[in-house]
Amino acid sequence: MPQPGDPGLFETIYSTRALRRFKPDPIPDEVLFQVFDAAVRAPSGGNVQDWRFVLITEPATKAKLQEWATESWPRYQPKYAADPSLMDALPRTQRLSLRSVEHLVHHIADVPVVVVVCGLAGKHSTPGGSIFPAVQNLLLAARSLGLAGAVFNLALRRPELHELLAIPETNQIYCLLPLGYPTDKHGPLRRKAVKSVVFMDRFGEPWPFAERQPDEGWQAKWLK
Ligand SMILES: Cc1cc2nc3c(=O)[nH]c(=O)nc-3n(C[C@H](O)[C@H](O)[C@H](O)COP(=O)(O)O)c2cc1C
Repeated sequence: MPQPGDPGLFETIYSTRALRRFKPDPIPDEVLFQVFDAAVRAPSGGNVQDWRFVLITEPATKAKLQEWATESWPRYQPKYAADPSLMDALPRTQRLSLRSVEHLVHHIADVPVVVVVCGLAGKHSTPGGSIFPAVQNLLLAARSLGLAGAVFNLALRRPELHELLAIPETNQIYCLLPLGYPTDKHGPLRRKAVKSVVFMDRFGEPWPFAERQPDEGWQAKWLK
């Protein structure tokens, strides 16, 4: 049964952005459970469902993630880490996005829940193909319930993370997902137009119907 405030599937798809600033409010267990009950409805190769999720709520563990993310930030964005004011010259969308990444780098310890997404290592012919459908289900369900998140991998490549969370060697970590009630807003998404990525019969051959469509009009139909 649809919940009050649930935007519905298409509005959710057309407006779920990667948001990285959160209120300190905790996420009630029944809300979090609903998010994961939606996540595990995703498809996976051979229906193996080998996704595993570790919910990080302990302050000490989140502080460690923040320490690692802060160490990674200058390697990821050397120019802007050295002089954050250089971000001011970026085009608006890029500027807002990069500032939100920088904010999360320095505040991940304050995020209510950080989900660590794991799965069997070396098991699938398309690595990640059996994990990221669940991640997307999770993010869309979270948005429908008033939450937000983003894939955030700046603290991912630390072998210590496996040890800290007692993740077995059989598993690899696919991504981290900070989750909480956002202070930023969801909204229209900037994506390449369908006509530039969908072809007819041969790679690169235009799909005439798509060629005739406006670049943004279809998402506007669904956004209030
Ligand atoms: C595989 C993957 C890795 C990503 N890694 C990061 C990351 O390390 N840090 C981050 O802030 N966002 C990360 N993102 C989020 C993307 O930057 C974001 O989805 C994209 O810029 C679109 O943003 P929008 O949905 O707000 O338009 C990642 C997304 C995916 C799917």
